[in-house]
Amino acid sequence: MSDAPVLYEVADHVATITLNRPDVRNAMNTALREAMLQRFTALAVDDDVRVVVVTGAGDRAFSAGADIREFVEAQSPTQFREQRRRIDFRQVMERCPQPIIAAIRGVALGGGLELALACDIRIAGDDALLGLTEVNLAIIPGGGGTQRLPRLVGRGKALEMILTGARISAAEALRLGIVERVVPAGDEMTSAMALARELAGKAPLALRYAKEAVVKGLEIPLAEGIRLEGDLSTLLRTTEDRLEGARAFLEKRKPSWKGK
Ligand code: COA
Repeated sequence: MSDAPVLYEVADHVATITLNRPDVRNAMNTALREAMLQRFTALAVDDDVRVVVVTGAGDRAFSAGADIREFVEAQSPTQFREQRRRIDFRQVMERCPQPIIAAIRGVALGGGLELALACDIRIAGDDALLGLTEVNLAIIPGGGGTQRLPRLVGRGKALEMILTGARISAAEALRLGIVERVVPAGDEMTSAMALARELAGKAPLALRYAKEAVVKGLEIPLAEGIRLEGDLSTLLRTTEDRLEGARAFLEKRKPSWKGK
């Protein structure tokens, strides 16, 4: 088994990114964040990959968040700035054109939950424990948690979770809309891969533009979002795949997508 902090493989247009520090519950140190930043920067221009799955190595954790050992190391302002650049890999994920599925086993705490929140669809094993626990270390979420969680669950519930640092179960996370599916522990990767393959079988440009319309649309006023949706859907009316989709339907056969 490689000792790289992040493992990467691609099969059938699905990329799998595995956080690979199981001994420390996949806690994110500088090297791991740098690897994530590089991966997602490269994925933005990778037309072969249609869907991405993010998971954690081992059966105990998706990720226990920031590597707390690094908190006690002295850092210069320049080092802090560099660290910030790496922490922002989640923003690169959001701009990443492919849908990203999180397969969550065990704990997703602090930056680990923030990583899951930067994914598009979350599938959790029923043993999962999720929380933004930073307040217990006298800090606040710095990887988008204070912004993405309230957008999913509303202000009151997000503040309750962030101020208490509580850990919630997979069932509660499902009820709140923090995860989209809960499956028996150990089945989360199979379930994520099945969904990834299903999505990878869709017309690639439609998949990308659907994500762009939803993710960008959430950041802008409704009228501008409707305009964005109009532009993207008009663009899709000009593709070869759109003709192929209609013809395949009328000829009662499976479409063969070209991604153009
Ligand atoms: N950073 C660095 N190391 C971590 C870590 C983190 N975020 N989370 C776990 N580890 C390490 C532990 O120090 C331990 O290392 P050791 O074997 O050298 O002692 C190892 O991972 C296993 O952790 P342990 O606490 O023994 O396992 P557990 O199954 O009893 O508990 C957690 C797992 C994740 C619930 C617990 O480790 C925890 O609460 N971690 C901190 C989570 C957190 O606050 N994250 C937010 C950071 S901002």
